[in-house]
Amino acid sequence: MAKTTSSFTCTACGAAHKKWGGKCDACGAWNTIQEEAPLSTGPASKTLGAAKGRVIPLTTLATAEAPPPRTRSGMDELDRVLGGGLVPASAILVGGDPGIGKSTLLLQGAASFARNGLKCLYISGEEAAAQVRMRAQRLGLADAPVQLGAETNLRDILTTLDAERPDLAIIDSIQTMWADMVDSAPGSVAQVRAASHELVTFAKTRGCAIILVGHVTKEGQIAGPRVVEHMVDTVLYFEGERGHQFRILRAVKNRFGPADEIGVFEMTGGGLSEVTNPSALFLSERGQAAPGSAVFAGIEGTRPVLTEIQALVAPSSLASPRRTVVGLDSGRVSTILAVLESRCGIPFAGLDVFLNVAGGMKVQEPAADLALAAALLSAREDVALPPDMVIFGEISLSGALRPVGQAENRLKEAEKLGFSQAIAPERTKAEGGGGMALRKLPDLVTFVGEMFGAG
Ligand code: TYD
Ligand code: MG
Repeated sequence: MAKTTSSFTCTACGAAHKKWGGKCDACGAWNTIQEEAPLSTGPASKTLGAAKGRVIPLTTLATAEAPPPRTRSGMDELDRVLGGGLVPASAILVGGDPGIGKSTLLLQGAASFARNGLKCLYISGEEAAAQVRMRAQRLGLADAPVQLGAETNLRDILTTLDAERPDLAIIDSIQTMWADMVDSAPGSVAQVRAASHELVTFAKTRGCAIILVGHVTKEGQIAGPRVVEHMVDTVLYFEGERGHQFRILRAVKNRFGPADEIGVFEMTGGGLSEVTNPSALFLSERGQAAPGSAVFAGIEGTRPVLTEIQALVAPSSLASPRRTVVGLDSGRVSTILAVLESRCGIPFAGLDVFLNVAGGMKVQEPAADLALAAALLSAREDVALPPDMVIFGEISLSGALRPVGQAENRLKEAEKLGFSQAIAPERTKAEGGGGMALRKLPDLVTFVGEMFGAG
């Protein structure tokens, strides 16, 4: 008889492990590994070779079908991140830290879709119906034709969905759902997986779009949204810094549209309001030309977004100086510090380095390298960059500047916001002109020489 071995799963990333451990090797999280009941290996798995299945019908790739009709909510920031509106029968995951505003966003989204003619169901497993109604009242959404339910029993929810046949069902949150066929507590990896699987299958077979809300969790008792990322068509993360009112909805996976698309919102007393010109917003608090500030002309999805990268460099009293990075990839920062040191002869040893992207924005593009280097150098040399200058370009380990995509769009956005000069890598496929003077440079050494003297 086969030995039944239980398995161990990381609640943060869903990776399977043979034995328990304090740290998950896959995602690096601590204390997130939990024991799971063994998966059943029924007779089917043993007889798979012997008993024949049926022949499944095969088709060609050619199609005469029109692309799926999308429904727009009218909230442009939400529609863009979805890839141009909601696709019927799609499964969407919206992840984010607790309290970031997921319920608010989805209540507003549900109301907008409902006002545009979709039949919407909002199932809250976290708040009582009265609480959700009070929030809707406060947001001015009380008259929207959204049907509201407060329930955590998955069987009852599926029966209700089957009876009501909505176009869109929102499940807030997947961690509170409880499937009675799974023998573990709500929020465990097994429960979250089973509930998501049932709901996604329902979406596919009955043509109802489903939005699952998932809290990002720091401790191991509750499974995080990464456990279900692979099951859904679209994964959106709602992020923002605490203490900042800006919120960014980012598509990290989308079978129906471009990934990396962002929608920008502002949390106000009356709910989330859309920010249609994020560049203006991210640059709005920029003071007059100060050392350590560089404006990066970035691209988020299909849209150019300008952000201010701020650096502070100060003598350190520590044996290993501080490297504090907010909104940028700290590995990338270390690489650029190393390139500056070994290719340009500008050491940062003995100096604390603090880096930040203004407005709570997260910049992930390698195109930000040159702006990042410019901010570091400007802070170190205590020389301000011209206030009307934008910078973009990737830095290679040799110190050469590599061109990046969509240069034309970056320059246009910068010009629209009143910038009149730009620095970019040599082989950039765009020309200046109009009100924009573009300077193309071959490598970091030339950049340092031009901007800060010989360094
Ligand atoms: P919520 O949507 O409940 O977060 P989540 O579902 O992601 O846990 O948002 C909670 C926070 O948003 C709460 O701290 C208060 C704030 N908020 C506002 O500032 N204005 C509003 O109009 C609403 C509804 C919430
Ligand atoms: Mg909530």
